[in-house]
Amino acid sequence: MDGVTDFAFRSIVKKYGQVDYLWTEFVSVEALCRGAAPNLIHHFDYDAEQKPLVAQVFGKTPEYFYLVALLVAELGFAGVDINMGCPAKTVAQSGAGAALIKQPQLAQAIIEQTKQAILDWANGKNLNDCKNVNPKLLRALAEQKNFWQIKTVKRQLLPVSVKTRLGIDSNQIKTWLPYLLASKPDLISIHGRTLKQSYSGEADWQALAEAGKMIKKHDPNIQYFANGDVKDYEEAMSKAHLAQADGIMIGRASYGNPFVFLPLAERQRLATSKNFFALAIEHAEIFEKHNLARGNDKFFSMRKHLAWYIKGVANAAQLRSQLVKSNSAQEVKAILNKYQDEQSTS
Ligand SMILES: Cc1cc2nc3c(=O)[nH]c(=O)nc-3n(C[C@H](O)[C@H](O)[C@H](O)COP(=O)(O)O)c2cc1C
Repeated sequence: MDGVTDFAFRSIVKKYGQVDYLWTEFVSVEALCRGAAPNLIHHFDYDAEQKPLVAQVFGKTPEYFYLVALLVAELGFAGVDINMGCPAKTVAQSGAGAALIKQPQLAQAIIEQTKQAILDWANGKNLNDCKNVNPKLLRALAEQKNFWQIKTVKRQLLPVSVKTRLGIDSNQIKTWLPYLLASKPDLISIHGRTLKQSYSGEADWQALAEAGKMIKKHDPNIQYFANGDVKDYEEAMSKAHLAQADGIMIGRASYGNPFVFLPLAERQRLATSKNFFALAIEHAEIFEKHNLARGNDKFFSMRKHLAWYIKGVANAAQLRSQLVKSNSAQEVKAILNKYQDEQSTS
């Protein structure tokens, strides 16, 4: 999730939520291929703990998907996920993300190029072997490999997946899905809303069940993940059954709460304010350490997570107003420790 599921967030969710798969934030193939790779490549940072991690990319230029799929494979990701679901104006109005639902042939060309790159990579091709690659992309790949000490990556056919929505302004599953199925991605994940809905209203689980039926009827080997408004493990289990889904993705419900991925008894045992405070501190420390290693001392994108961790505690508004001004993990720790001391003496 753009702006949320960065390196530190993923570390926390993996460690405390024990999730099966993680995805990076999405990264633009156009931006990567046209010279912005040095500024964007950090979105592809990960460590061994976050594996299996899938790289998500978006765009509208099939040739760029080919190049970026090679890059993703060389960086050791567990798969390449193509975003065909983002409703944000900056993405959809440029013809990428959910706007690809309007251009099914282009969507197919993108999947085809991505799959071709993965096949070529498995057969020994590298980004370096391609003609007319922006030198900044090549340099960013080399530096990334060096930074993370990525030496040998096993050449294999990585899964190519698509994440999409139900349609543009109504449920178009019956017409949209056949285009995706014909391109044979390894996994299709669907958020049960339309582009027009963005995040309003409710996810349509009847439509997601209809999609599950279509996918499994067409080819039971294509994996299906359903998504939208799922709050916790138990809901994920029942919705997976309802939609004939192989997996469920949980997004917003995991804000400030990696325990949503665990069964109820575990959640109840772990969901204490003491634990949430400890998570906030650990998250801030990982964030800071990773940022500093990358030469970035900006703390502001950590602050929203801090506000999420303290949701529901006594005097949350006052505590939040302090946390959203914090500039380091040390400060976060001091604020939370002081708060806990005050609570225990009041
Ligand atoms: C802030 C935000 C950023 C998101 N960024 C992405 C993204 O980069 N890629 C993607 O596939 N979906 C993205 N999504 C959509 C979510 O993955 C998910 O499909 C949607 O939020 C519905 O699931 P949920 O109700 O469990 O959150 C984003 C959603 C939000 C709220």
